[in-house]
Amino acid sequence: MTLFAQRLGLGRIGRGLLIVLALCALAAGGDAGQAFAQVAAARAPDVPYEPTPHNVVAQMLQLGQVRNGDVVYDLGCGDGRIVIAAVKKKGARGVCVDIDPERIREARANAAAAGVLERIRFLDQDLFATDIGEATLVVLFLWPEVNLKLRPKLWRELRRGTRVMSYVHDMGDWKPQQAMTVQGRLGERQLYLWTIAAPRGR
Ligand SMILES: C[S@@+](CC[C@H](N)C(=O)[O-])C[C@H]1O[C@@H](n2cnc3c(N)ncnc32)[C@H](O)[C@@H]1O
Repeated sequence: MTLFAQRLGLGRIGRGLLIVLALCALAAGGDAGQAFAQVAAARAPDVPYEPTPHNVVAQMLQLGQVRNGDVVYDLGCGDGRIVIAAVKKKGARGVCVDIDPERIREARANAAAAGVLERIRFLDQDLFATDIGEATLVVLFLWPEVNLKLRPKLWRELRRGTRVMSYVHDMGDWKPQQAMTVQGRLGERQLYLWTIAAPRGR
C-alpha cells in the first residue's frame, strides 16, 4: 500500500489518507470495497510496457543461440513475443512472467494464436518473487536500476552455464561476453549477453 502511494507521488498525509480510505472501503464491504482494496494492494510495475521490436526479437534468438531443450524466461514478458518466437522457431520451452495481468492475458492469447500455448507457462507475478532456477536463458528488457537490483537473484538462483540477455541496458560492471548493435524503435540500441560462470561478484 505504501509503495502504491509512493508510486502515485503521495506524501505522508496522502499515504495516510489512502490507508484510511482502504480501511473504510473494506469495513463497508461489498464489491466496491474489495475492488478498491485490491487496487490499493497491487504492486505497480517497476518498468512501463514497451515491446521489443520484432526485428530485434529475431536477433535475440540468434545471439542467445536458442536451441531445443532451452527453458527461456522473459522477466517482464509484455505480450510474450520473445518467448513465443523462441519456442516456435527453436523448439524450446518458455516461461512468461509479468506483474501486469493485462500483459499476461495478452501473452496467453498470442501464444494460443501461434499454436504454442502448451509449451509456455504464464506467471502473473512479480519477477523478484519468481523462482527462476530452471531457466537456461533469461531475457530482460527492464531499466538499468532494475537490472542491478536483479543481479544477486540471477547469481543466486541460476545454474552455471545459463545465459542472460538484456535489451538496451547493461548489468553495470558485469562485462558482457557479447554485445550487438541492433536497430531499435528510436535508433540504434544494444543487445547484451552474459553466461553465468565462475564467481564474478554481485
Ligand atoms: C519494457 S517492457 C518489456 C516487454 C517484453 N519483455 C519485450 O521485450 O517485448 C517491461 C515489462 O516488464 C513488466 N514488469 C515491470 N516490473 C515488473 C515486475 N516487478 N515483475 C514482473 N513484471 C514486471 C511490465 O509490466 C512490462 O510488461
